[in-house]
Amino acid sequence: MSATLDLEAVHRAAAWCSLVGQGDAVVEYHESTGSTNDRAFELANEDAPEGSIVVAGRQEAGRGRLGKTWASPSGGLYVSILLRPDTAMLRRLPVTLLGGVAVAEAIEETTPLTTELKWPNDVHIDGKKVAGILGELKRDVLVLGIGINIVEPKGGLEGDAKDSAAFLSPDPPKAEAVLAELLKRFEDHYQSVRAGGGVGILSSASARMPMLGKKIRIALANRTLTGIASGLTQTGALVVELEDGTRDVFVAGEVEEVRRK
Ligand code: BTN
Repeated sequence: MSATLDLEAVHRAAAWCSLVGQGDAVVEYHESTGSTNDRAFELANEDAPEGSIVVAGRQEAGRGRLGKTWASPSGGLYVSILLRPDTAMLRRLPVTLLGGVAVAEAIEETTPLTTELKWPNDVHIDGKKVAGILGELKRDVLVLGIGINIVEPKGGLEGDAKDSAAFLSPDPPKAEAVLAELLKRFEDHYQSVRAGGGVGILSSASARMPMLGKKIRIALANRTLTGIASGLTQTGALVVELEDGTRDVFVAGEVEEVRRK
């Protein structure tokens, strides 16, 4: 097993995922690219089928949610999976949570570390972010982008993530092993949602989300609200029992736990 990824290693990892490893799915590895999500949308325009994947060793223009930059130096794993769910599937697909659960399981399978999910799209280790998920839908194409910090670069990450990032330290697994496990877990959960079993993914996600049942503050574009995070909807939106006695459902927002002083 090579220390860093190459196309052969990505093919070996993809063999674990029948969605990717069989048929006409395109499998690409780039030592460096702009954004794997952008490349996956380009492949979609060229009619690449569901299950095509783009993996990069580093990204020059990695994107996070809300237009943020995703620091993507060598040592991380950057992968995008091209999906073409039909409308019925899309209505019951909590794609960000599904990606988060698959990442959490892959990390826990390949390291002794314990992970938690932070709604809507973070995977944390000891309160610091080790991975982020970016699901982007354009017409009938859904691209699930996943970034995992594996090896800490010398001097840490650049930018906002510097003090809030976690890595798979002190004994990082091989990127190929993490990718293989990630694709395997993703495949299982995606096929189970396709077969109508979306409840399983919601309960796995909820069990990994310590914020549920707690008092939280949710910052939206124009206001901040406080309430109890009480659960997740079928597509992964957050249900909050607000302080004014009403209940609301959020698809986005920055959430933090309100701790007693
Ligand atoms: C976030 O936490 O804000 C989401 C980060 C998603 C980063 C991944 S890395 C692979 C894919 N390509 C991108 O440009 N972004 C996603």
